[in-house]
Amino acid sequence: MTVIAVVSTAGGAGRTTICSALAVLLARRARQVFAIELDAQNILGAYLGLETLAPRGLVHALLDSSADWHAESFRNDDGVMFVPYGALDAEQIGASEAAFAAFPGWLAGALGDIDQRPDAAVLIDAARYPSQQAEQAIRAADLVLCVTTPEPAGCVSLAASIGPMRRGGAAFFIVVNQLHPTHEMHRDALALLRARVGDGVILPQRLHRDAALPDAFARGAWVFDAAPHAQISHDLHGLARWLDGWLSAHAETG
Ligand SMILES: Nc1ncnc2c1ncn2[C@@H]1O[C@H](COP(=O)(O)OP(=O)(O)OP(=O)(O)O)[C@@H](O)[C@H]1O
Ligand SMILES: [Mg+2]
Repeated sequence: MTVIAVVSTAGGAGRTTICSALAVLLARRARQVFAIELDAQNILGAYLGLETLAPRGLVHALLDSSADWHAESFRNDDGVMFVPYGALDAEQIGASEAAFAAFPGWLAGALGDIDQRPDAAVLIDAARYPSQQAEQAIRAADLVLCVTTPEPAGCVSLAASIGPMRRGGAAFFIVVNQLHPTHEMHRDALALLRARVGDGVILPQRLHRDAALPDAFARGAWVFDAAPHAQISHDLHGLARWLDGWLSAHAETG
């Protein structure tokens, strides 16, 4: 099992979009894929094509060790096994934050209970960093994919957090999303990021801002099915191909 944490320091960067698209594209490459939400938004299921949001999920097993989160998982049309976070009220959110803080290795232990093939990929859509959920995901991960838009504020906040995010020792790459190559501000922000974090950490496969993506989502379709020739479809296939290759190389080197 290889665990991939999808994180970001800014909201709306594209974590849920990228996590769900990668889950589907890896499943179509014949990998066994688990998609796990670790964000109280409890929305990843909608991205994966489910019509109702799960009332219960992984977090209920954190709050009550007798709760069986395996029973709350779903399989989507592409064969992705999806584990929802579950819906919480404000009081339960407070209790879950405290429980995550008290048991820093809880997620890693819970993932160990999943019955999977050795080559399975587990993708985690984690709440915005810093948060208890993002810390748990990073701690459990073999690979951290940190999503950022090429906006100056986002790049500065990412550069400031990169040290703590890399402390766990997992492989770490930055995925630039919503790039508009002709925007001078985007080019400047990326140059700033490159200067702060080094070139090798930023994945060469960038994801462009493309209205085809939210359009397809609004119609309940994947952009790479509804608009296979769109720029973002090309980009997402490229990212999935890179991740597939990384997973194979990781399996060989252990
Ligand atoms: N490359 C892109 N081109 C156009 N729109 C995009 C792109 N990536 C993401 N979006 C849109 O941006 C919005 C935010 O994306 P998403 O929900 O995946 O981000 P997030 O990081 O999970 O946000 P949150 O912090 O709320 O969890 C969505 O409406 C999504 O469709
Ligand atoms: Mg999200």
